[in-house]
Amino acid sequence: MKRKILITGGAGFIGSHLAEKLVDEGHSVIVLDSFITGSINNVRHLIGRDNFQIYRHDVTEPYSVEVDYIYNLACPASPIHYQRNPMKTLLTCIHGTINALDLAVKNKARLLHTSTSEIYGEPAEHSQREQSWGNVNSVGPRSCYAEGKRIAETLLVNYSKEYDVDIRIARIFNTYGPRMQVDDGRVVSNFITQALGNKPITIYGTGLQTRSFCFVSYLIEGLVGLMESDYSLPVNLGCPDERTIKEIAELIIQLVNSRSSIMYGPVPKEDPVRRKPDTSLAKKVLDWRPKINIEDGLHETIKYFQELWPAPVFCTSCYESISHIFSLS
Ligand SMILES: NC(=O)c1ccc[n+]([C@@H]2O[C@H](COP(=O)([O-])OP(=O)(O)OC[C@H]3O[C@@H](n4cnc5c(N)ncnc54)[C@H](O)[C@@H]3O)[C@@H](O)[C@H]2O)c1
Repeated sequence: MKRKILITGGAGFIGSHLAEKLVDEGHSVIVLDSFITGSINNVRHLIGRDNFQIYRHDVTEPYSVEVDYIYNLACPASPIHYQRNPMKTLLTCIHGTINALDLAVKNKARLLHTSTSEIYGEPAEHSQREQSWGNVNSVGPRSCYAEGKRIAETLLVNYSKEYDVDIRIARIFNTYGPRMQVDDGRVVSNFITQALGNKPITIYGTGLQTRSFCFVSYLIEGLVGLMESDYSLPVNLGCPDERTIKEIAELIIQLVNSRSSIMYGPVPKEDPVRRKPDTSLAKKVLDWRPKINIEDGLHETIKYFQELWPAPVFCTSCYESISHIFSLS
């Protein structure tokens, strides 16, 4: 069945892959994005398609469109971006989510919200299961995002109870792939950029801290599967293949065939030591399991960065000239 679908934050890394899939499947897709961390380059290939529209809009301001499904992705995701303007991050999580929920009430639409593994904070248990309540410092440097995302989940659950909104909550773990931003300070993009330039790879801490990286196309399958499911409690979406940061650095050096060395720096405040999703619920309720070949995923991501190289700079002003973007009042 063809749907009218809104994606907030659809010009970002994950949102643009989601938009591409839904447009290719023939749904009518509307993207709202403020371009604070997204780029028109991510969706340029979709502009001009009959079933794709894009508007520049800050989701902290109310808006109105007629839709059946809402994917609420708008929010900076990398720590350097969400910490740059913590109040804006909080307001996006709170008012942005309230505006999406109000729209869902008005349209009787289903709303899928993208939450995060950061709601687990420094996890008390390993791997992280959905039942875990989390261990988050409410006044720490990551709290604008982690607590913002926690209150967003609470908003969803209570709108569902009080206004009967049909909700879905995806708790996304580290995701990587083409269209990650070069300057977002995340492990994969940092390491690839440094390796391509034969510059030292900077590991913060001992490198023995772990992460589990999911390739973006598998995540998108999980998000769409969750939207289509009838499961309305939080579901972890991520890859359970746990690797140390040092392992990832060495793998990227090898895949890029780089002359980079590894350099160690101070660990950022409240950087979690271990992250690994327990994905048994996603397997059970969505029959979803990501493929685990990190070499293939990294290969595709490196290819994307190589195509941008040697000037991997995103055009931030070029979207001004594109007539498909205009403010939604
Ligand atoms: N990438 C990951 O590993 C990851 C992990 C956990 C959760 N998530 C969640 O997934 C979603 C997408 O993440 P991403 O990696 O694509 O990040 P991203 O920064 O690439 O994309 C976010 C998009 O939202 C837009 N945006 C931000 N604030 C906005 C606002 N107030 N109004 C309108 N648009 C706004 C940005 O311009 C950008 O296009 C986010 O909600 C993030 O919290 C991502």
